[in-house]
Formats: sequence, C-alpha cells, structure tokens
Amino acid sequence: MTRRYFLHYSTVTAAFLWTGCEEHRSEPTQEDNVTASKSRPKVAEMKVERFSQKLKIPQEINFNQIDKATFLAQKSQVAIYPDNPTEVLTFTGTLPNPTIRIQKGETFALDFTNGLSKPTIIHWHGLIVPEEMDGHPKDMISTNRIKKYHYQINQSAGTFWYHTHPHGRTGEEIYHGLSGLYIIEDEKESKLNLPRGEFDIPLMIQDRRFDKNRQLIYKDPKVIQDNNGVLGDIVLVNSTPFPYMDVATRKYRLRILNASSVRTYKLAFDTIEQFAVIATDSGLLEESIMVNHIVIGVAERVDIVVDFKEKQIGDVVLLKTLGFKEGSNLTLHPDYPNFATAMEIMQFRVSQKSEDNSTLPFKLIPIARLKESDAIRTRTITMEIIEGGLWTLNHKPYDMNRIDQRVKLGTTEIWVIKNSVHMAHPFHMHGVRFQVLDRDGKIVFPTDRGWKDTVLVMPFETVRIIVEFTMPGLFLYHCHILEHEDHAMMANFLVER
Ligand code: C2O
Ligand code: CU
Ligand code: CU
Repeated sequence: MTRRYFLHYSTVTAAFLWTGCEEHRSEPTQEDNVTASKSRPKVAEMKVERFSQKLKIPQEINFNQIDKATFLAQKSQVAIYPDNPTEVLTFTGTLPNPTIRIQKGETFALDFTNGLSKPTIIHWHGLIVPEEMDGHPKDMISTNRIKKYHYQINQSAGTFWYHTHPHGRTGEEIYHGLSGLYIIEDEKESKLNLPRGEFDIPLMIQDRRFDKNRQLIYKDPKVIQDNNGVLGDIVLVNSTPFPYMDVATRKYRLRILNASSVRTYKLAFDTIEQFAVIATDSGLLEESIMVNHIVIGVAERVDIVVDFKEKQIGDVVLLKTLGFKEGSNLTLHPDYPNFATAMEIMQFRVSQKSEDNSTLPFKLIPIARLKESDAIRTRTITMEIIEGGLWTLNHKPYDMNRIDQRVKLGTTEIWVIKNSVHMAHPFHMHGVRFQVLDRDGKIVFPTDRGWKDTVLVMPFETVRIIVEFTMPGLFLYHCHILEHEDHAMMANFLVER
C-alpha cells in the first residue's frame, strides 16, 4: 500500500511539503540515498573511505580547573576531511567545539566575543538560568561586542548543549559549526559509579552536505526541500565524518546529542542487541531501561550505556540509524534522502581487553513525578504551516516583541502540543524542564520517562507535557527543527512573579 499526500502552498518561498506513508524499504544503503537524489547538488565524491578517521573527542573546559572561559565566534578553516580544509564557524578556532564540564553548585563564567560579521548570541540549551543569561535572540550582540555570561548551576547532572541563537539564522550558524556539549555533574550521579573519564564519550551527531571541495552546502536555492529542513548525506560525529573509535571490552557511557538541522535518528548497533538508556535531556532516569533502539529528535539528548564485554578483539560494532517504518510520514520529498532513511553513523572497533569496575545500576535517581492535579492551567500549542508556507505555532509567525503566553512563577501547567501536519517536530522550551504525560493518551518512548526540555511530537500526534516554571523572565518555546525556528515556528512566554 502506498498512500501519498501532496500539499502545495502557493508562496513566494515555495515551501512545499511532500509526505507519505511509503512502504518501508529494507534498510537502504547510502548508495541508494545518493542515487535517489539526482537533483541535489553534487556531493563530494567519496574518495575518503568511510570509517577511516578516528572520532575526535572535544577538548574540555572544566570549571574544576578554571574560573572563567573565553569564546570568540569566528570563521576557521578546519580539517574535517584530510584532503581539503572546510570553512566553518567555531568558538575557539577548531572543531569540535569544547565540551563544558561543571559541577552542580559551581559558577559558570564566560566572556563571549562576537567575531562574526552579523549579530549573534549563545544559548545554553536545557539550562535553567536567568533571562539575561539564557541567550534569547533579543539579546544578540553585534560584531566585536562582548557578552559576559555569569550564572550558578542549580540543576542536577545531565548532558546539555550550547549553540548560537541569532534571530532567523540559528540553522545557518549551527550548521556551520556553532554548537557544543555542556555536561553538568553532581554527587548523586558520581555515587552511581557509571563509566567515567575515557569511558564517558560525548557523541554530537549532525548530518551535512559537502561540495566537491569539502565546503558545506546550506540551503541550496535549487533545493526547495531545504525550506522544510536541511538534510545531509554525510553524518558527522563530533565534526568527524563516519568516524571510528577504538574501545575495550567493557561498558561505555555515550552521551548522544542530535545537533542536526532536521533529521530524526533511530539509533541501534548492528551486533549488540541491547543497551541501556540511563538519561534523557535534563538528567538521569529513575531506572535504566534496556532497549534495542532509541529515537532521538533534533536537540534531544540521550545517555546510553553500551557493553562491549562479549566482544572479541578485532570485532567491529556499527552504530547506525534504522529506516523508519512507523515514522515514514516523516518523508518529505521522494528526491531527497529523507528523515526515515537508514544510514551508517560510526564504528566501534574492539581493540583491547579490559577490566570493568564501573556499574550500571537498575535504580538510578528518584524523579519527583509532577502531578496533573498540581497543574493550575492547561494551554494548547498547535504546530502548523500557514498561508505563505510559513511554519508557525498557534497560527502566528514569531514576533520578538509579542508575549504569547504569560505564566506565574512557581506554578505548574499542562501544555498540550498538537501536531497538525505530516512531519514530526521537536518542541523545545527555554528556562524550564518538563515531563511528558502522554502521547495520544499513551507513553510510547522510553525517553518520555525522564526530565525533558525537548519532546519530539510525531505526525498528527498530541503530546501532553507538564511544566514547572521556576525561573522568572522572558523565554522562548519553539520547534527545534532549525529551519522551522528560523522560519517562524517560535514564540515567547513570560514567567511573572
Ligand atoms: Cu536549543 Cu532555543 O534552543
Ligand atoms: Cu534552548
Ligand atoms: Cu517544526
């Protein structure tokens, strides 16, 4: 059965949306993708073998060792491929950008200089910090200006991230490099004795397109699809295309961040049946959950523990994204690699035997469940495409000066997020964390059981979340498909005292 919808929005930007429930093709290879997309601009001929480059591990800025960091947003030439440098944007001159590591209770301080030709601002995704520290696009700084960030970490351990958030250009800047990992640690987590140090690896996953000269292609005017989200055919992990990593026969914690523009991944290993999900966006789960795959939308994080102890030296384990069956509505256009395409991501090469004194407890940390009866109000947010081909929330294109929702500090509310289109959208809120109550009445994803700041709302699905407002000020909520937030799929909420 093949059922297809074709929606045409007559518009200047000519955004059009092709969606359909295609029959699931069994795990197409990368070659399939490439030939399926004839009309795309030429990508680099794959002279560089896959899995020939070692995974880069970001340098760390550890607030145990320093009091203040400095970032300078700048253009840099970086060796993403060995044969020709790529022009990118960085915070310190190279990619991947540093991982920030900080303990709960410590103070974060950073001087940020905007060395770019246009205004920008850094946002700390998932952190609950005062409004003036959050990095709202209204606080963009112009060229050569300095923004001094200074705030205390008052939230529990977790994997967060940072990225620039300029008005209308977030997609472009993140695509060119301006994002990194941000790890908060605390004592409760340390006591669990999870894999740490060299066995605790951040994986920032991003799909990209390169031209023949190894330069990034963003929003090709010939590719109408790019309005709905820029998809790439090369997967970078920590800014390394299709990397490999040597591992020992033991447990590893992988902190996975989907920092792509639009692509949703359904992650699995080829020869490891099961792995444990231990944390979601805003921290550890109550109990580790064994799964054989995990779905991760844009901006979401998931920490997993994977054990290589059954492996022999010389074994190779592939991390890949599976083709979606249930998510085939995520397909946008038959000519382009779609959200639902199976792709290889990286290899783990088992290269040494090892002892393992880390643990993977079943019980992690208690999570206080927010109760529906504590919510003082319910609001509905709809995800729509309107006349003119604009992606919006509640029918209104984003206006930086409009306050869309006013909420009371210290209260709890239920927000009902309704997706009225054929495409999945990751819904994100600044300045809060929330819990997922249900999806069309049911809990579907293992990641719905933890604290979240971003939730993937599947096509035509309604997700109810329960939110605590603990920080006063003006914050954003938006779709985290970068081209959608840059379009108009964003709004402001004010938390009032
Ligand atoms: Cu990653 Cu406005 O957020
Ligand atoms: Cu955010
Ligand atoms: Cu969206």
